[in-house]
Amino acid sequence: MALAIMGSGGDAPGMNAAVKKFVDYCFEVGEEPWLIYDGLEGLIDDRMKKAQHSDVAGILHRGGCVIRSSRSERFYEYDYRKQAFENLQKHGIGGMVVLGGDGTFRGMDRFCHEFPINFVGIPTTIDNDIYGTDYCLGVDTALNTIREALDRIYDTASTFKRAFVVETMGRECGYLALISAISSGAEVCVIPEVEFNRPVVEARLRQEIAEGRNYILAIVAEGTKMTEKIAGWLEVEMGFETRVTVLGHVQRGGSPSSFDRMMAFEFVIEAIQYLLTGEASDKIVVWKGGGFSLLDIDTVVNNKYRLNPLHLSMLNLLD
Ligand code: F6P
Repeated sequence: MALAIMGSGGDAPGMNAAVKKFVDYCFEVGEEPWLIYDGLEGLIDDRMKKAQHSDVAGILHRGGCVIRSSRSERFYEYDYRKQAFENLQKHGIGGMVVLGGDGTFRGMDRFCHEFPINFVGIPTTIDNDIYGTDYCLGVDTALNTIREALDRIYDTASTFKRAFVVETMGRECGYLALISAISSGAEVCVIPEVEFNRPVVEARLRQEIAEGRNYILAIVAEGTKMTEKIAGWLEVEMGFETRVTVLGHVQRGGSPSSFDRMMAFEFVIEAIQYLLTGEASDKIVVWKGGGFSLLDIDTVVNNKYRLNPLHLSMLNLLD
């Protein structure tokens, strides 16, 4: 059977490892691997080809995605989705593995309700905001990138009497900020999921300052849109010379961690094995409680990801 892989939406470290394993594993089980270039845009415009080993040689350690990605406005229109389906049919593609996030899965959900597509999704986003999975491909590398940046900022912050506000990505999800704040020992963490209790945090900080604290590290999730506000508070109310660092797309790139590479391999094998069972597809492979399973795409896109209560409770810095 011809099987295709596509990346869509924001790229994440580990996508190349997934693409490589997809091609290698297809050959191993006697299936024909195809690569769809430029995400949904390429699917619409028929930018796809039968893969050879040489297409995926030497890509494992690289960030980004060699088959590229896109955020497609056109895919919102039925006529373009129909065109995309006809392209898949033309090449006899009997199953698709899609590396993507929430937006991609919403598009695929609509697509597979309209057309008979055999599709399995792999949650791939540094935001880690997909319902039903504890982990999305790429998040481990992004967390390590943030940790490294915070460790460096901590060095300079603790050398001066300064406050640093570091903004992390994540869209509406505070996962990156929360885990980074806990694992880096930040003094302040502001995420969209929890209302920032400024009087309580301020009282704690004032107490610590009275006891000798001379720097403050605040992690702010981009989804709160509070970066400047927090910086103003630290500067004006708390009396700290304050610097702001927006980590931005640095968080998206970089060589994938060993964990992300291994997870890419395992996600892909799960996805292909499922496609080959011939059961009704349109599923997302999820990683929950230390194991893989498959969820209906409807369940994934119609529910909201919630931060782990244990992680939230570890953020007692907030109160
Ligand atoms: O979804 C991944 C992500 O990196 C978000 O964290 C961020 O808000 C967004 O993509 C940035 O998108 P773009 O690369 O289109 O600017």
